[in-house]
Amino acid sequence: MKVYYSLKAIKAVLRDIKPSKIALVSSSYLISNCQWAISKIIKATPDKIELIRIPNGETAKEWEVLEKLLIEFIRARLDRESLVIAFGGGSVTDLVGFASSIYQRGVRYINIPTTLLAQVDSSIGGKTAINFLNYKNQIGSFYNPAAVIIDSRFLKTLKKEQTIDGFAEIVKAGLVKDPRILEIIKSSNVKIGKSPIKKELILRSIKVKQYFIKRDPKDKNIRQILNFGHTIAHALELKYGLSHGEAVFIGMIEELKIAEKLKETKPEIRIFLEKILNDLGITLPQLRPDWKYILRDKKIVGDKINLPVIKKIGKAKIIKVRALTILP
Ligand SMILES: NC(=O)c1ccc[n+]([C@@H]2O[C@H](COP(=O)([O-])OP(=O)(O)OC[C@H]3O[C@@H](n4cnc5c(N)ncnc54)[C@H](O)[C@@H]3O)[C@@H](O)[C@H]2O)c1
Ligand SMILES: [Zn+2]
Repeated sequence: MKVYYSLKAIKAVLRDIKPSKIALVSSSYLISNCQWAISKIIKATPDKIELIRIPNGETAKEWEVLEKLLIEFIRARLDRESLVIAFGGGSVTDLVGFASSIYQRGVRYINIPTTLLAQVDSSIGGKTAINFLNYKNQIGSFYNPAAVIIDSRFLKTLKKEQTIDGFAEIVKAGLVKDPRILEIIKSSNVKIGKSPIKKELILRSIKVKQYFIKRDPKDKNIRQILNFGHTIAHALELKYGLSHGEAVFIGMIEELKIAEKLKETKPEIRIFLEKILNDLGITLPQLRPDWKYILRDKKIVGDKINLPVIKKIGKAKIIKVRALTILP
């Protein structure tokens, strides 16, 4: 899977893939918000393309929406040589990736991620999913896109909260693997919502994700390092409806505190992270994770949890601990 860094690449990608037909899937909101990009994509192959609209945001990741999307695929007469384009945030790429993985046992798809989170995280790595019976990402598959096309022009219209969502993953990538990410944030005086997002931060974060995916595509061992901060984050999101980015930042701090208690890491790392947050201009709500919600995490098997631990900045490992010993 190749990652491209400008929407201009669409022409070359389509030339490579030579699809029989194309379904471009997005929400009405994004289609009007990113009209310039939609026109560019349609212009690349006007005779083969069909625009399919899905609900906006997380509501797209529903069984009924999946069903309607598959019906649209049939209506558009997509076949095994066709291509689906997911245009949007992680909700769109998750749903479209999953639909593409099951339609006729797999049709090719490409991701054009429009949020920072989707660019550095959800569009890369082949995890696709919908929510089911109130369980998040309960039904899904591993199915890689044929290509990912990123473009920084999409990021200009993001709300501050959405930028924080992406930055939480960028800072995480720095802590688990690439200290240079954190140096760039420190030295360039980035302020969330005020400064443009440096392309190098996006590129480096994608590289970190690719490093782990390549070694553990099915998330069985070291890819779980990318879950750093997320066990507690998911519990905070469930209990308080907190945004993903804020929850991940608090989750990383709280998981570091647990690792400190277990003598697996030193307080300096947490203090460093708190400084980075301060540099970025992020203030977090004072919330405590709730063990009831932590234990609902699907990554807890039996009473054991794989906890990512930062040994030093840029170096992480997984330790297995009994869930009960980590309760706050
Ligand atoms: N597959 C994975 O590996 C993976 C990893 C992380 C997260 N996810 C999933 O990603 C989803 C979250 O993705 P998300 O944060 O990208 O949000 P999203 O796709 O739900 O979009 C959030 C909102 O942002 C809007 N939006 C998108 N692009 C925009 C732009 N350029 N300007 C203005 N508004 C824009 C959308 O229309 C929507 O209203 C979750 O469902 C999560 O489970 C998947
Ligand atoms: Zn995340």
